Amino acid sequence: MADSLSNKKRGGFTGRMGFILAAAGSAIGLGNVWKFPFEVADGGGAAFLFMYLIFCFVFCLPIMVSEISIGRAAQRDAVSAFETGKKSWNVVGKLGVLSAVLVLSFYNIVAGWALGYVVEILMGNFSIGEEFGTYINDIAKISLYAGIFMLLTAYTVSKGISKGIERLSKVLMPLLLSLMVILILYGFFLPHAGAGLKYYLIPNFANISLEVIYNAMGQAFFSLSLGLGAMITYGSYLPKNENIVHASAFVVLADVGIAFLAGLMIFPFVAHLNAGDMSDISGGAGLIFVTLPGGFESLGPGIGLVVGSLFFLLLSFAALTSTVSLLEIPVAYAVDKLSISRKAVVWFLGLFVFLLGIPSLLSQGDSAFLSACLSYLNSSESRSFMDIIEHISSDTFLPLGGFGIVLYVLFGWRKKRFHAELSQGYPNYVGSIWQRYLDFSLAYLCPVILSLMVLLTILDRFIGINVLKILTDAL
Ligand code: TRP
Repeated sequence: MADSLSNKKRGGFTGRMGFILAAAGSAIGLGNVWKFPFEVADGGGAAFLFMYLIFCFVFCLPIMVSEISIGRAAQRDAVSAFETGKKSWNVVGKLGVLSAVLVLSFYNIVAGWALGYVVEILMGNFSIGEEFGTYINDIAKISLYAGIFMLLTAYTVSKGISKGIERLSKVLMPLLLSLMVILILYGFFLPHAGAGLKYYLIPNFANISLEVIYNAMGQAFFSLSLGLGAMITYGSYLPKNENIVHASAFVVLADVGIAFLAGLMIFPFVAHLNAGDMSDISGGAGLIFVTLPGGFESLGPGIGLVVGSLFFLLLSFAALTSTVSLLEIPVAYAVDKLSISRKAVVWFLGLFVFLLGIPSLLSQGDSAFLSACLSYLNSSESRSFMDIIEHISSDTFLPLGGFGIVLYVLFGWRKKRFHAELSQGYPNYVGSIWQRYLDFSLAYLCPVILSLMVLLTILDRFIGINVLKILTDAL
C-alpha cells in the first residue's frame, strides 16, 4: 500500500513502449551521431564498428540489465537504490549523481553547438565549418544556444516521467529515425557515395589495434548511458510486469542500429566532399562540425540548406532525449531523498548545471587559462577545462561506476535477489540461456574489462602513460 502510494507520487512510464523509447532516447545521443562516426574514422572504418558491436552485447548489455533491475527493485533514485543491503554501497550511486552533473555540464555545451548550427545553416552560413573555432568562442551565441537547450531539457524534466520524458521521446525518436532515413537515401545517390560506404562497411582487420579496442569499449559504454545511474533511474519507473532482459536487448539494438545508420548517413557525404578519396579523412570532433557543412554546401544552396539544417536538427533531437536523462538522475535523487518538489529541484539544478558549463564554454580558446589549465605529468601537452571534466567524468567515473554496479550485484545485492527481480515479467528467466550468459558476463567479463578500463584511463589521462601505445610499439 505504502509502495503504491509513493509510486503514484513518483510517477512512471505508462508501459513498455514508453520505457524503451525513453531509454533508447537516453542512449542515442551525440555519442551516436557525432562521436561514433569520428571514432570509426579514427579507428580505420569498419574494424571499429565490428569491435563496437561485440562490446555492446558482450559486456554492456549485462550492465544495462543490472542497472535497470537495481532501479526497478528499489523503485527509488540512483542513490537510495543501493541501500537494500549495506547502506555504504550508496557511494556508487553518489558517484553516479556527481558524474551525471559533470557530464551534463559539457554535454549541454556541445548540444548548444549543434542547435546553433541549425540556425546558422538555415541562414545560409555554410562557411560555419571553417569558422568553427571562432563560432565556439562566440560566448554570447553559445551561451544563448546552450541556455535554450538547458531550458528545453529542464522544461521536459519538470513535467515528470510520463508527461515529460516519455512524451518527448515518443515524438522525437520516430522523427529522428525518419529524418535519418531520408538523409541516408539522399546520400546514397550522391556521386562517390560508394567509396564512403566501402570505407565504412568493409572491415580491414589490420586496422584493429589495442587503442581501437579500448576506444570501442569506452564508446559502447558511454553510448549506452551506463555507469552513472541513468538506467537505474529509468528502471525505477518501469512497471513490474515488464521483461527487463528483453527491454534491455531492444534498447541496445536501437542504440547500435542508430549508430550504424549514422555511419551510413555520414560517410557518403564525406566521400562526396572528398571526391571519393577516403585515404586521408580526419576524424575527431571536426568530422561533423568542420567537414560536413562544406559537404552540404556542395549540394547546392537550396538543397544544402534543407539537408544541412535537417542534419543538425536531428543531432539536436538526439541530444535532447539524452540531456533529459542526465538531468533526471540528480532530480530523482533530490525528489526521492530530500522530498523537495520536482519543479523547484529541476529549475535550480538546470541553472546550476548550466553555470557549471560556463568554464567549459570558455575553455575552447576564449580564456587562455581555462583553455590550457593543466598538462600531463610527464608531457608538455596541456588540456582545457572541458577536457579535464570529460576525462574525470565520462572517461574515468563512468567505468568506475560500472565496476561499482557490477560489484554491488555480485556482493551487495546478490544473485538471488537479482534473479528474483528479473523473474518478474520473465517467469522462466532462471534456467534460461539468458540467465547463464548474464551471470557469466557479470561474474567474469565485466569486472575484468571495467577494471582494465579504469586503470588504463587513469594511467593515460592523468599520469600520461599510454600503456596501449607502449605495448603496441613493443610488439
Ligand atoms: N548515451 C548518450 C550519448 O550517446 C549520452 C548519455 C546520456 C549518457 N545519458 C547518459 C552517457 C548517462 C552516460 C550516462 O550521447
